Amino acid sequence: MKLQNKTILITGASSGIGCELARQLAHESNRLILIARRDDLLRQLASTIPAHPHDHITFQCDVSDADQVKDICDWLISAGIDIDALILNAGVNSGFNIRAIDLATFQQQMQVNFFGAVSFVAHLVPQMIDRQSGIIAVTGSLAGYRGVPGAAAYSSSKGALMNFIDSIRIDLQKNNIQCTLISPGFVKTPMTDKNDFIMPFMIPVEKAATIIIRGLERRKTEIRFPWRMSTAARLGRRLPDALYARIMQNGRKKRCE
Ligand SMILES: NC(=O)c1ccc[n+]([C@@H]2O[C@H](COP(=O)([O-])OP(=O)(O)OC[C@H]3O[C@@H](n4cnc5c(N)ncnc54)[C@H](OP(=O)(O)O)[C@@H]3O)[C@@H](O)[C@H]2O)c1
Repeated sequence: MKLQNKTILITGASSGIGCELARQLAHESNRLILIARRDDLLRQLASTIPAHPHDHITFQCDVSDADQVKDICDWLISAGIDIDALILNAGVNSGFNIRAIDLATFQQQMQVNFFGAVSFVAHLVPQMIDRQSGIIAVTGSLAGYRGVPGAAAYSSSKGALMNFIDSIRIDLQKNNIQCTLISPGFVKTPMTDKNDFIMPFMIPVEKAATIIIRGLERRKTEIRFPWRMSTAARLGRRLPDALYARIMQNGRKKRCE
């Protein structure tokens, strides 16, 4: 199914992958609901992409705040706006230090990366079930396949998201609702610009967005890329625990050398 003339809600649309998805989807006459905290960036985006006859809509929202998410969803429902696709992409990687675990930061990552997606689904899935159609896509990460050193919070939040989408796909099987996990490896965005280690097989954001849109149109249950990184991640999942830990530890040592 071509993503054309649809109404598509994207969280994390102010930069990186979400922003590029919006740009590409706007060229196919889709109406976009753009969500993030930095409203100035959303407005700028909405004014530079191809216009829609019913106008794109921007919402300033912290997705970790359940009340803010509810207000947006209530507004959309009361305005009679049916969402064809939810792309729940907002995310943060705020780091993790095993010697000084910062619980507040850990919880906030779970709140944004996991509950920030779950709360949109909670409010908007009944509408999709009533219409017996829709797409729910969540942006996980290849870092969610298995624990990644130095990233326990991020990795856990993405692992939770993987199981969430896997579960609801079964719940929604009879409702014609596509549930897709997006599993990127390294993509060049402001998030990865902060990293000071080597990021193998990193791809440009334009390419990542094109792969995601193509995968959604093909009704894939999972869109993982780039292929070399995703093959490594899938193999890593099958390794015995001790061997996996040794390989990851060696990789970390090399990164620190
Ligand atoms: N880049 C990669 O290599 C990579 C790899 C695997 C997975 N991912 C995932 O891809 C998604 C997009 O990341 P990106 O690489 O495009 O990073 P990015 O450029 O930093 O974009 C992150 C987006 O999430 C939004 N966001 C963060 N916290 C939010 C909050 N509390 N409420 C609402 N929006 C929030 C940001 O908007 P505001 O700051 O304006 O709120 C921004 O639009 C994330 O889920 C990330 O985990 C990225």
